[in-house]
Amino acid sequence: MQSLSRPVTSNQSGPHDKLADLVNRHVTSRFLKPITDYNRRAFEDSLQGWDRQMPLILDAGCGVGWSTIQLARAFPDHWVIGVDQSEDRITRQKTIMGEVLPDNFVCVRADLVDFWRLWFDAQLPLARHYLLYQNPWPKAEHVGRRWHGHPIWPTLLGLGGILECRSNWRIYVEELALAVNMLTGRQAAIESWQPTQFLTPFERKYHLSGQMLWRYVVTLEGRQDLHRIG
Ligand SMILES: C[S@@+](CC[C@H](N)C(=O)[O-])C[C@H]1O[C@@H](n2cnc3c(N)ncnc32)[C@H](O)[C@@H]1O
Repeated sequence: MQSLSRPVTSNQSGPHDKLADLVNRHVTSRFLKPITDYNRRAFEDSLQGWDRQMPLILDAGCGVGWSTIQLARAFPDHWVIGVDQSEDRITRQKTIMGEVLPDNFVCVRADLVDFWRLWFDAQLPLARHYLLYQNPWPKAEHVGRRWHGHPIWPTLLGLGGILECRSNWRIYVEELALAVNMLTGRQAAIESWQPTQFLTPFERKYHLSGQMLWRYVVTLEGRQDLHRIG
């Protein structure tokens, strides 16, 4: 039986009051942590099956890859790349009943912090970008671990495409929407999300536990360097 999960609890009652400072700091400096060879290989591997024509979809933090496979089915003329740092999740068996898997996806194990920078440096276009049920790091002191509070944020956002975030913590999505607006001027609604079929295991778990879910979809411009340096 699926275990129930509790709603997110936090010492924040709204968007973090230091969010704007954090985003401003990250946009005015480059994130210089060296990129590992391991992640470079994973990046190359993720493009092996791509014909260099199909539009690209990135499922960031894809877990076991349910969403990657479903996206590949929903967008059969796209190449869908799922990335997760967990070897256990990435290598978990992708079929339950021996069903035929689509041939337009790949799941690779990599650290997104490197993967996003490699993608940006390769100047690859990005059609759609999914951030599905990422760890919300709900303690206020951990705001810097949320993707929009992390130094990678300007790079992630600079990849462009249609960015979709889903979460069981509304404040996470509110902050992310604010941080998108700060750097791009773009705005989009945050909607209460009632899934009729589940895109990910976490979506399923949260929904079956009776939690509210939130969805935000924003169309960004094409690739652009959002850093403001010098
Ligand atoms: C809460 S799980 C959600 C998984 C999946 N999207 C779902 O909804 O079922 C968050 C996932 O993000 C992955 N993750 C977190 N930080 C990452 C990083 N820096 N690079 C790659 N994956 C990361 C974790 O390994 C984990 O599988």
